[in-house]
Amino acid sequence: MTDATRAGPVVTLDGPAGSGKSTTAREVARRLGFRHLDSGSFYRALTYGLLQAGIGPDRWTGLGRADLDAIGVGVEPSGEGFQVLLESRPLMDEIRSPEVTSLVSTLASLGPVREWLLAIQREAGKRGCLVADGRDMGTVVFPGAEVKVFLTADLLERTRRRLKEQGVTTPTDEQVSQEAARIRERDRDDSERKLSPLRRPEGALELDTTRLTFEQQVETILERVREVSTASAEDDRARE
Ligand code: CDP
Repeated sequence: MTDATRAGPVVTLDGPAGSGKSTTAREVARRLGFRHLDSGSFYRALTYGLLQAGIGPDRWTGLGRADLDAIGVGVEPSGEGFQVLLESRPLMDEIRSPEVTSLVSTLASLGPVREWLLAIQREAGKRGCLVADGRDMGTVVFPGAEVKVFLTADLLERTRRRLKEQGVTTPTDEQVSQEAARIRERDRDDSERKLSPLRRPEGALELDTTRLTFEQQVETILERVREVSTASAEDDRARE
C-alpha cells in the first residue's frame, strides 16, 4: 500500500560491495523518472570530511551529534539524484579514494553516525519516487518500501567489476587477489556489525547478477515495480 504523504513508491536495492547496486539503481531511477539516492556516498562523504578535518579513526568512537554537525557535510537534491557537499562544495571522486574506501565501514559501524545519516536519508526520501541503494535501505531506512531488491554476485565477478571501474581491464592475479581480499573484508565488516548489518530484507527479490547482463537486471527490477504498481492500483480501485 502506498503511503499517502508520498508522491510515488520507494524502491530499495541492498547488497554487498561491487554487486552493481549504484549503477543499477541509477538506471532504474532514470527510466522511472525517480530520484536516485546513493546512501554509500553519504557515508563516504562523512568519512572524507572527518579526514579533511584531521579527525582520524582513533577518535571516531567518541563522536557525537554536535561533532558530526561541525564537519560541514550536507546533501542536496541535484539532477537525477542527491549531491553530497562539504562546506557547500560538491564532493566528487575524492570520496571514492582507496583511503576512504578502506575506512568507511569503520565509521559506518558507529551508532551516532548511523542515527545522524538516518535523518538525512529519510528527509531525502520522504516524498517517494525514489530508488535508494546501500546496505540497510530495505531493512532500516525505508522498511515500508513498495519494492525491495537484494543484489548479489560471485566474489570474483564483483572483484572484476570493481577493477574495471578503476580502469584495470586485464588485472594480474595479484591485483585480483588483493582487491578480492579488500572486498571480502568490507563485506564481513558490513555484515557482522551490530547496527543495521547488511541483510536480505524480508520479502526482497533476490537477484544474483553474476550471469545477468546489465539490461536484464534493470529490466527484472522494472518488471517488479510494474507488478507492484498494478497490484496497488487494483487494490485502490477495489476500495473505491
Ligand atoms: O559502492 P560500494 O559497494 O563500494 O559501497 P558504497 O555503497 O559506496 O558504501 C560504502 C560503505 O558505506 C559500505 O561498505 C558500508 O560500510 C557503508 N554503508 C552503510 O553502512 N550503509 C549504507 N546504507 C550504505 C553504505
